[in-house]
Amino acid sequence: MSKAFALDVQNHNIKWDGNIPSCLEFQDIFFQADVLSEIKYVYLDANNVSKRFKSGFDISIFEFGFGFGLNFLCTLKEWIDSKSQKKLTYVSVDNKVPTIQEIEKITDQFKSIDKEKELLLKFFKNVHNGINKINFDSVNVEFFFLVGNVNESIHWLNDFQKFDIWFLDGFDPKKNPEMWSEDILDTVQRFSRAGSTFSTFSSAGFIKRGMIERGFNVKKRKGFNLKRHHLCGETSGKIIKSKSSKRRIAVIGTGIAGSCVAYQLSKEDCDIDIFEHCSEISDGASGNPLAALYPKFNFLTTELNYINIFSFCYASRFYLFDQFKDAYFPSGVSFIDTNPNLSRWIEKVMQLNRADMFELKKNSSDVLNNLKGAKLRVKNCGYVDPKKMNSKLLEPDNIKIFKNYSFIDYSKQKSKIMLNFKNKIHEELYDGLIIATGSGLCNYFQDLSLTKGHIVGIDISDSIKEPLNSNGYVLPKKDNKNWLGGSYEANFIDLEINHHECKNLIKKHFSNLNIEEKVPVNYEARAQVRTSTAEKFPIARRIEKDANVFVVGAFGSRGFTYGPIIGDHISAEMCQKMSPLPSSISKYL
Ligand SMILES: Cc1cc2nc3c(=O)[nH]c(=O)nc-3n(C[C@H](O)[C@H](O)[C@H](O)COP(=O)(O)OP(=O)(O)OC[C@H]3O[C@@H](n4cnc5c(N)ncnc54)[C@H](O)[C@@H]3O)c2cc1C
Ligand SMILES: C[S@@+](CC[C@H](N)C(=O)[O-])C[C@H]1O[C@@H](n2cnc3c(N)ncnc32)[C@H](O)[C@@H]1O
Repeated sequence: MSKAFALDVQNHNIKWDGNIPSCLEFQDIFFQADVLSEIKYVYLDANNVSKRFKSGFDISIFEFGFGFGLNFLCTLKEWIDSKSQKKLTYVSVDNKVPTIQEIEKITDQFKSIDKEKELLLKFFKNVHNGINKINFDSVNVEFFFLVGNVNESIHWLNDFQKFDIWFLDGFDPKKNPEMWSEDILDTVQRFSRAGSTFSTFSSAGFIKRGMIERGFNVKKRKGFNLKRHHLCGETSGKIIKSKSSKRRIAVIGTGIAGSCVAYQLSKEDCDIDIFEHCSEISDGASGNPLAALYPKFNFLTTELNYINIFSFCYASRFYLFDQFKDAYFPSGVSFIDTNPNLSRWIEKVMQLNRADMFELKKNSSDVLNNLKGAKLRVKNCGYVDPKKMNSKLLEPDNIKIFKNYSFIDYSKQKSKIMLNFKNKIHEELYDGLIIATGSGLCNYFQDLSLTKGHIVGIDISDSIKEPLNSNGYVLPKKDNKNWLGGSYEANFIDLEINHHECKNLIKKHFSNLNIEEKVPVNYEARAQVRTSTAEKFPIARRIEKDANVFVVGAFGSRGFTYGPIIGDHISAEMCQKMSPLPSSISKYL
């Protein structure tokens, strides 16, 4: 990864001519006035996109230059119109990030892509440097927005992911040779499938020669409108796409770790059996009444900080899917300025100038009358109802849940995996296994640390509508109680409620919120275990060299932040696809 801080993104430096932007840096236009017809002619028709979307195969497209997303939106429209049941993977790279207002200003002129624009803007949030993955599950599209200089971001691709179509759209090659270098053309060659095609608005001779040298048959076609010519072409070789056979995967544990992996795998060609030793799903650490997304980060360019930021941003988009609407509350999360460390942090966050992500409310009294400190509000995030979320994640038809199954170990039969349970005989064979047993991961890693924690429910106020973080957090009401989290005990014997810890937790929050009441006699409490590694990295690792056996967990206090991206990463590893995490980070998991 680059050493740029993940949230310090660069926006476009543009001049407007009406609603058409042009780039000041390269003194070039982004597109011609009749842009949708230009895109149809230069990119969609030249690559025979409409017919290929109806071919009954998954398709992947790589674009150099995301700009304001018009190529993406037109492609998305074509994909939705094709009614394909397969998957579209669209990867686009840019070193600049458009603002929502810019995308709206440009796309408002084109009613025909209204639906696609709305879909994009619903999820185009918390964008950071690096890989931003957005899954549009309702239309079977996965979109990777690689934010970074092209020379760097091409290294985030892995050899598993090959592309069928290339859009080369990186400004005039004479003005911006970096987007057309030998390395870029080599990348096109290396990551092309047999039969892949490309097109570009440019007709530069060196691009034509470069693509021919790399095995493409290149055509110089009449250009669109003001342009005389443009290039397109295809690699020789027949398109070989095998129909993959369905794989059977077993997952152990129905907490957020196991549920997220199962959900992400359910979108691939897999049948998933998930096993839980309790009589209910999600009764371990993931069984608290509510859980907040945790947006805290520091300003270091360390891998741990990257994973925290990437996971948070991914989760904040992931939970927005329609199917999770009863389980996720996109309220925002606030940090109350209660101590000098938090004050300094809030100050630095505001210096990032990410008004799309953060807002400062000085002397805020809108949440509780007696809350006087400044409040940093992280906008695009919220809190989840864990049990509801996990049951939604396990809803797809190709996931089968087995309760009261207590996993002991596994054995291998050739390339297949067989499971041994304490209390059941289960003779099925699997192609892959994911062990996501929470604190049970201690069976595989000796150096994990376990801490006991309580979450306590008392009636504080109906006006708390979003998680309030200070030293711990206060959550909105569920079952007429606000939930306070969490206590920490490194030394503990069992998970009995420790009333001394609960009362201290209430006292601490009363003090943070300037509440002068006595600790109530009646409160509800739940105790559970957090599992962490010494370095605080979550675990998402293959443990059998020759078989698909993975261990996932050690999510510490950030289970609902880590779960979605880690689930996607494991699914990508297992199905040999592009991960939302670059290998420079995933090697630490
Ligand atoms: C007090 C407290 C408050 C917290 N608050 C938050 C918060 O606000 N936000 C947040 O993001 N995180 C929070 N966390 C952390 C979060 O709860 C955990 O990181 C997360 O739940 C861990 O998920 P998991 O799936 O790895 O483990 P678990 O949820 O423990 O899931 C493991 C599952 O595996 C099953 N299992 C175990 N062994 C076996 C076996 N042998 N066979 C079959 N099944 C088995 C268990 O029954 C369990 O269902 C909190 C934690 C605590 C303790
Ligand atoms: C012509 S515009 C792309 C228009 C876009 N396809 C659309 O549909 O809106 C070219 C894009 O290339 C990006 N770009 C230029 N040089 C780059 C570089 N070195 N690395 C990454 N992106 C670059 C620019 O920021 C710009 O957004």
